[in-house]
Amino acid sequence: MYPLIRNRRLRANESIRRLVRETIVTPDDFLAPLFVVEGKGVKEEIASMPNYYRLSLDNLEKEVKELWGMGLCAVLLFVKVQDNLKDNDGKEALNPFGLMQRAIKTVKNACPQMLVMTDVAMDPYSSYGHDGIVQDGQILNDETLEVLTEMSISHAQAGADFVAPSDMMDGRILSIREGLDDENLINTGIMSYSAKYASSFYGPFRDALDSAPVDIKNVPKDKKTYQMDFANRFEAIRETQMDIDEGADIVMVKPGIAYLDILREIKNEVDVPVAVYQVSGEYAMLKAAAEKGWLDHDAVMMEQLIAFKRAGANIIASYFAKDVVKLL
Ligand code: PBG
Repeated sequence: MYPLIRNRRLRANESIRRLVRETIVTPDDFLAPLFVVEGKGVKEEIASMPNYYRLSLDNLEKEVKELWGMGLCAVLLFVKVQDNLKDNDGKEALNPFGLMQRAIKTVKNACPQMLVMTDVAMDPYSSYGHDGIVQDGQILNDETLEVLTEMSISHAQAGADFVAPSDMMDGRILSIREGLDDENLINTGIMSYSAKYASSFYGPFRDALDSAPVDIKNVPKDKKTYQMDFANRFEAIRETQMDIDEGADIVMVKPGIAYLDILREIKNEVDVPVAVYQVSGEYAMLKAAAEKGWLDHDAVMMEQLIAFKRAGANIIASYFAKDVVKLL
């Protein structure tokens, strides 16, 4: 006649819901991406990423101290490179006094315990907006590995704790690991963007860094020959397993919300920490909908972040890192 088991008893009020809740997020879960530019006193809002900014080094220092004070413990650095410093082989990326190298030192001086991870990829340095050297309409793999390896060494020498290769060239993790070890940088870790899809959700990020592939004849307009096809699942497992075999300390799934199936599957398959990247387009979508009054910003943000944890993420790279920590 009546239900024998009543699941609603465990949902009856917030106290019982708290008691039986399976997943929480804490400041320890987050990796805060930061965009750095040349200049002094610069804090430019990114048009397609409301309330997110490009910071000059002085403001980077302030921001990092604030983040640390709020309980965040890790940042992921990106730089916007001046046009006149871009070329086809990313020479500026290896400049020991380049913006990234100075940004790493700025963070470490301001906040020595803040974990510094750096994006390792050529695109912000590439005059073509690609993650590798372009030749005859192709993105060269092995020649690019040399640049990525030198770039990683340079970041590590400047003080980066982890390098985070986001390029999807074949063999990069092994090449970077060997390069670091040869320089005796044995304690520098590698967080690999191992399952990175060719996604249209990266648009606002490319605005932020002015790093989109350029529209020139004989230059590929997209990154589909190196980033993964979003229709594929097994490929993500293979890529991730390869990166672990080559020495990755942490692996990553990117983007986030549209790839929770991949995140869970990888979490079940591997025994290293798994990160997820809630990318710029995901941030932009929620900001836009909330601005229109169509979604409740904080509620939807929290629902998405909890979903990453529930799906198995150990680390969440998110532009909401600061917003969420304020709420906790
Ligand atoms: C660089 C890089 C990209 C992102 C992180 N590292 C852009 C791309 O691959 O085109 C995207 C991050 C975001 O959209 O938030 N290779």
